[in-house]
Amino acid sequence: MRLVQDLETTLRVLPKVELHVHLEGSFTAGRIVELARAAGEPLPEAPDRLLAVGSLPALLARLDWWCGLVRSAEQAEAQAHDFAGALAADGVAYAEVIVNPTHWSGLPRPVLLEAVSAGFGRAAAEGHADCWLLVSLLRSQTEDGALEVVRELERRPPERLVGLSIDGNEAETGPTGGRFAPAFGLAGALGLGRVAHAGESSGPEGVVSALDDLGVSRVDHGIRIVEDDGVLRRVADQGVTLDVCLSSNLALVHPDLELHPIRRLVDAGVAVTINTDDPATLGVTLTGELALATRHLGWGRAGAVAAVARAIDASFASGATRAALRSGLAAYAAV
Ligand code: ADE
Ligand code: ZN
Repeated sequence: MRLVQDLETTLRVLPKVELHVHLEGSFTAGRIVELARAAGEPLPEAPDRLLAVGSLPALLARLDWWCGLVRSAEQAEAQAHDFAGALAADGVAYAEVIVNPTHWSGLPRPVLLEAVSAGFGRAAAEGHADCWLLVSLLRSQTEDGALEVVRELERRPPERLVGLSIDGNEAETGPTGGRFAPAFGLAGALGLGRVAHAGESSGPEGVVSALDDLGVSRVDHGIRIVEDDGVLRRVADQGVTLDVCLSSNLALVHPDLELHPIRRLVDAGVAVTINTDDPATLGVTLTGELALATRHLGWGRAGAVAAVARAIDASFASGATRAALRSGLAAYAAV
């Protein structure tokens, strides 16, 4: 018990970087109750059951419901600001936060994205975590709808935008192949970073499509590439980063840590980062996830530092921000 506490204490002050976290998964039960009251909407369950989701479809349905309770720019701004504060309290220095406007049915897309960007900007100015925006498509969107999202980003880029993402349930949509290629092609031409959820609810073929059709440099989850040696080799050889979320996988898709693919990924030389996915929903923190990975893989403190260094390398941050993050990490490692 004492060892566990020591590790978590050590990792809390490590200046961490998170690349795979959804603002939709940052709502606490208390905040959801407040929003429901303000919107005049009944709760579907008792407050202590609101965050209980045991599958990806159940999670996505809940995200639609509680994000839909956000009805003003001020509420969205406050959610973004307060989340950056919670990350700072956990010792997160920098985060790329996924926002999927399809969940937020109570606000027009540009209003939402500008409000979130403003909330992150206000938080950064106050010294909280430095949060940037990954606008995300939903796997079930149409090709034209997806392209329109990126055209709108081109016309009206939110200040803190760094990339385009895609998430949702590939087990439900089936392979989407090149449907999102035009949207991701335009994002690439605009200089945006590109990342896709794949290899969670899809198999290795979903990761191949993310690389070939969408041109991503990172894959969120990606764990199922262990089912195909060729894809595993390709991801390792091309230096594609997998943004892995252990507790999310255990809750939603892969219940046994001992059988989780992370060990095989690391042994195969894949660049793996550690992330939370939906922290408030799952009741996890980045410190806790890094401690879990460190214990499970026998990394030690140096291994945890190396995982954060990989996240800095794979981030879409500016050169100056990466340099600052690297020197913060070096200062931590030197003590
Ligand atoms: N949106 C929020 N969490 C997600 C996950 N784990 N997979 C796909 N889409 C998501
Ligand atoms: Zn995710």
